[in-house]
Amino acid sequence: MKIGPYTLVSPVYVAPMAGVTDAPFRKIAREFGAGLACTEMISSEALVRQHRESFRLMDLGWDEHPVSVQLMGGDPRVMAQAARLAEEAGADIVDINMGCPVPKVVKTSGGSSLLRDPDGASRVAEAVVGAVSVPVTVKIRLGWDFATRNYLEMATRLERTGIQGLAVHGRTRSQRYDPSADWIAVAQVKAAVTIPVAGSGDLRTADDAVRRMRESGVDAVMLGRGILGNLWLVRQTVARLTTGETVPALSWIEQIELVRRHCDLVLDYYGAERGPRLLRKFIAWGLRGFRGAARLRTMVQSVATPADVTVVLDLRSRLTELFRARPVVQA
Ligand SMILES: Cc1cc2nc3c(=O)[nH]c(=O)nc-3n(C[C@H](O)[C@H](O)[C@H](O)COP(=O)(O)O)c2cc1C
Repeated sequence: MKIGPYTLVSPVYVAPMAGVTDAPFRKIAREFGAGLACTEMISSEALVRQHRESFRLMDLGWDEHPVSVQLMGGDPRVMAQAARLAEEAGADIVDINMGCPVPKVVKTSGGSSLLRDPDGASRVAEAVVGAVSVPVTVKIRLGWDFATRNYLEMATRLERTGIQGLAVHGRTRSQRYDPSADWIAVAQVKAAVTIPVAGSGDLRTADDAVRRMRESGVDAVMLGRGILGNLWLVRQTVARLTTGETVPALSWIEQIELVRRHCDLVLDYYGAERGPRLLRKFIAWGLRGFRGAARLRTMVQSVATPADVTVVLDLRSRLTELFRARPVVQA
């Protein structure tokens, strides 16, 4: 499939996830064959104020291309400026967040609050499309709440602004992350527009992805919470969707090896000062489903100082000891 001039190696996207889809995470996902990875959402206001940490979020030095930078904000002028900064930083695609439900974001009239204001949403998209030479995409939810589900209006109006791709998370803003995603609505969006559409919501296995893609006709699937602690799902999904091959789940030793590699990359990227705290959650997620891992997870949560890094790097041998001959119980 293609987004603008780019032919993607697979129809499998890594969903943008705040606090998760950083450079090390994206690197592993791309090694496993993801066709597109995206940064987490970055505040356009923060970027134009030259906020250092926000610039760090769009460090693309470790990325394979194409890579997408996701921007959040409701002011067309600021979003246009931020989009130019993203393009300068090497973004191949600028994605606009029109789905984030977090009150702090909604208050700034960004994220999902744009779903309540299709005119404003179109102005933002037009401004960003006009500001950069790279393709612009938008990620939406189905609407603000059930009574105001306006996904077809949003999709068709946004398409007219010149965006070159849409991602649809099959829930409303009020639904946050809980009830099942509505893939019938996702299919309706796909049928209503001509630009490529990626579907997002509840893809936990390669089978889910194959079924949802077939039923909805979307061009790509976006893996979200299903890859927290299970990046191997990217590899499994890519294989099923490209060659039809069924790739088995990792053995527990292989899974631990993957967690260890992720830790190494996090430490490498952020350094021994900052890395240990950031990798705690990845280890905890990575060990989910292993019998008896609770004690080890407690230990991992106390990793806080550079000296504790060794504890983490020693994970594999500790775990090997702990789980010898025990089968993996997938979460
Ligand atoms: C921890 C977390 C952070 C997220 N951050 C973002 C974000 O920065 N931008 C965005 O568009 N969506 C974000 N999302 C939504 C996901 O991209 C995805 O659409 C959603 O989780 C639905 O897919 P799932 O049911 O497979 O998890 C986030 C989701 C999670 C769980």
